[in-house]
Order: sequence, then structure tokens, then C-alpha cells
Amino acid sequence: MQVLAVTPEIYPLIKTGGLADVTGALPIALAEHGVSVRTLVPGYPGVMTAFRKKRPLHQYDDLYGGPAAVHVAQVGELDLLVLDAPHLFDRIGGPYGDAGGRDWPDNWQRFAALSRVGADVAGGAIPAYAPDLLHVHDWQAALALAYMRYGQARSVPSLITVHNLAYQGQFSASIFPGLGLPPEAMALDGVEYFGGVGFLKAGLQAATAITTVSPTYAQEIRTPEFGMGLDGLLNGREADLHGIVNGIDVEVWNPETDPYLVSNYARGNLKARKPNRRAVEERFDLAPDGGPLICVVSRLTWQKGIDVLASVVDQIVDAGVRIAILGTGDAGIEGVLLAGAARHRGRLGVVIGYDEALSHLMQGGCDAIVVPSRFEPCGLTQLYGLRYGCVPIVARTGGLADTVIDANQAAVSAGVATGLQFSPESGAALLHAVRRMCQLHANKAVWSTIQKQGMKSDVSWEGSAAKYAELYKSLLANKADSA
Ligand code: ADP
Ligand code: GLC
Repeated sequence: MQVLAVTPEIYPLIKTGGLADVTGALPIALAEHGVSVRTLVPGYPGVMTAFRKKRPLHQYDDLYGGPAAVHVAQVGELDLLVLDAPHLFDRIGGPYGDAGGRDWPDNWQRFAALSRVGADVAGGAIPAYAPDLLHVHDWQAALALAYMRYGQARSVPSLITVHNLAYQGQFSASIFPGLGLPPEAMALDGVEYFGGVGFLKAGLQAATAITTVSPTYAQEIRTPEFGMGLDGLLNGREADLHGIVNGIDVEVWNPETDPYLVSNYARGNLKARKPNRRAVEERFDLAPDGGPLICVVSRLTWQKGIDVLASVVDQIVDAGVRIAILGTGDAGIEGVLLAGAARHRGRLGVVIGYDEALSHLMQGGCDAIVVPSRFEPCGLTQLYGLRYGCVPIVARTGGLADTVIDANQAAVSAGVATGLQFSPESGAALLHAVRRMCQLHANKAVWSTIQKQGMKSDVSWEGSAAKYAELYKSLLANKADSA
């Protein structure tokens, strides 16, 4: 089976969050299920330099304002199609905005272009490549399904994966004529959304099936509280909506071989985590001592609940816990954290920035990782934490609820606990969880059982890749039935 995936990010070439980890790892896991995935990605500078340009497979004289070409590329184990469109993607900055964090004003055109090319390739634009199925990720690729629906002779079954319903790609109605869709697409069951154009909405409407990245989030988004305005639509598509929890790349994230660690270790040798812990303490200017060391690796945004954590850092420090925070995002939250670090020298360390290597070291050296999200479609850092013996303390929501077994008394007695959950989303509940963690941490035997139990959890892609493969098969089978 040939699947064309379309995504705005893919690890290791371009990453701002978990989406890239998923689109970089899932194709490799699917290969074992007889599914061969080719992924269309924008030709950002970091992508263009990762391969040697050959003759393009397909060309456009004018793709939303300039010439463009589609190249085939192999990067590591990933089979790619790269959309080389310098007028849209050859820019200094991030994939969605400039170095100052301002969104590119033509994002609608950039991702309409990516989507258009996805639909064209699915529709047979490259003669030697005829995918059986089109799988798009998030709003940036979602419009491909509208282009396929309203456009072309050859259409294939399609899947859209929602990694985060908070990002919907909503634009003013004035962009509609520039999209090149027929007038009938500007309709309630098309791309129209609250009087404007909704990219994600259009994709959800047109997809054969919809997945999101955990079973709990798949339920949550059908409620007004988490549905971000799309709960009605999603309820209408209930029969086609599935929650499949993310896995992680267990080769990239392997404490036994991880090159970013000062000291590699296995489940049977947790003492070897010590040098990593020492390195984290040094990096974050923390006083070395035997008490618990917790960390955060996160985008610093409202979604992630880092402001909730910030509201109780004084009490957490008073409880004898040290905190290392790595992240970047909301300037207000950054400021509050830095002020906390100034108040608690040696106890609270903050590094503002994005640092892949440091994120590995923290998982390899800290006792626990806190993920206090208000909502979390899946979350990956708690999965890395499980794999690294860095015990997750998580808000009970979305994929966090699905992947961590709370260390309540029954679970501890049964030896099955892998972390701590708290609810509701409040400073008091988080603080309570941190205090519970301190008690568990003080009992060496109990704590190491929790760590080891986490390290035993299956966080690989194995089970979930099988679910995607099954879903793909059922979509193809339904198509054959209805043909
Ligand atoms: P989201 O995609 O919503 O940000 P996830 O938990 O799914 O959340 O994925 C976040 C990914 O980004 C993880 O791989 C995490 O390690 C990484 N990450 C987040 N912030 C940073 C940072 N400041 N430095 C390094 N890696 C980070
Ligand atoms: C999104 C979500 C996160 C999820 C990731 C990968 O960024 O916020 O919860 O893990 O996508 O699916």
C-alpha cells in the first residue's frame, strides 16, 4: 500500500513540536506493516540542504505567485517529496513566522500551495507515483482534501490527523478567490467557517476519516469545552473519528545509546543516571543535593499550563524540590519564570530557548518531568520521561491521561504505577501531586519500582502503527465496496 503523507514539519529536518516527531517516526514504523509512506514537505532552507537536487518530478510555472518544483528525496529512512517554492519557503526564520515570532502574512498561500500540490500528486500529477491513500496532518495540509474534493478526476480515500484542535488555520473570506477553489466550495459543508475560510474545518469536512492522537482527546474534542467551535462538526462525524495514541522513536530516544547523555544507562543500572543529573544541575546553576529534581521541557504557552506551575513555584521550592525549566514561547510566562529563578537561585533554573540536546539530558538526569497542560492531544515529553526513568507528573487530560498510570495506593501496591496524575487543573492540585511525589521519592524501593515500571511501558510505535495500518486498510476496503 502506498500512502502520500502531507505535513508542514518532519523530524529531523524541521521541528517546532511533537507533530514533527510523529511524522518522522510513523512512516518508519508503518514500513513493517507493508505500508510505504512518501511524505510531502515544504522546501524550507533546512530541508533543501538535506538532499541533492535532481531533475524535478513535477513543475509549476506559477504556484501562488512564483515557479515551483517537486523533488524526490531520501533522507535517512524517510522517503520524501520536497516542494521547492522559494517565493514561499526560502526564508530566514521558522516554518510559520519570522525570527521575532510574527506569523508570515502569506501563510494561507504557503499552506494552500502545499495542500494543492498534495492533492495534485494524489490525483496522479507524477505519472510514476499513484498513491492509494492521502494522509494529511493538521491545518497546514488540510486544504489538500478540499482541493481533491472539488477538483480532480482521480480521488483517493483520505485521512486527516488532528494534532491540536487549537490551531485551525482560520482566515478572512477575502482570501477565498485566491485559493483557486470553485465558488461552491465556499459553503457550510465546504471551507466556509464562521464567515471566513477554515483550513482545518475544510479538511475535517472532506476527509474519509479523522484521527486524533489519543483516545481521550478524541472524546474530549466532541465537547464544547475542548471542541474549539468544531465539536458540532466532530459529533456529526463520530463514526469516522478515531483516537490513536502516539508512539515515540525508541531508537532516537534510547537511554542506553543516546549520544546527548553524559552517561548512558539501562533499567538495571539507574545509578548511572547520576552524571546526567550532575550535568543538569551545572547547566541550570542548581545547588547539588539529594532532594528531588523535577523538570519541564515545553512550549511556554497557555495550553501547557506553565503559568499554573509558575503560580506555585515558591511552594514547590519550599517543599525541598529543585526545578529545571527549558522552554520558549509566551513572553509573559517567560518573564514570570525568570523572576522565579531570580528569587530562588540554586533551586529554580530556567533556560529560555529550544535545545534538543539539553532536552535529552534532562530526561536522562532529572527525577521527574512535569506536564501540567490544560489540554494535551497526546503529549510526547511524558513518553520520553517514561522511557528514561524520569517519572511523569501530568494533568489528567488527553493523551496524558491515557499514557501514565497514577501512583495511587492500589497501583503502588500492585507495582503498576508509572507516574502521577493530578486534576483539576490548578496550582493546588499540582502542588499536591508534587508533595505526593516527594513522599514516594523518599522511599527508594518504591521510587525505583515506579521508574522501572515506566521504563517497561511500551511507548514504541508498534501498537499504534498497527492501528493506522488497519485503518488505512479499512478505508481502502470501503472504497472497493462502494466502487
Ligand atoms: P507540542 O507538540 O504540543 O509542543 P509534544 O509533547 O507533543 O507537545 O511535543 C513537544 C516536542 O518538542 C517534544 O519532542 C519535546 O521534547 C520538544 N520540545 C518542546 N520544547 C522544547 C525545547 N524548548 N527544547 C527542546 N525540545 C523541546
Ligand atoms: C500537538 C499536540 C501534542 C501532540 C503532538 C503530536 O503538538 O499539542 O499533544 O503530542 O501534536 O501529535
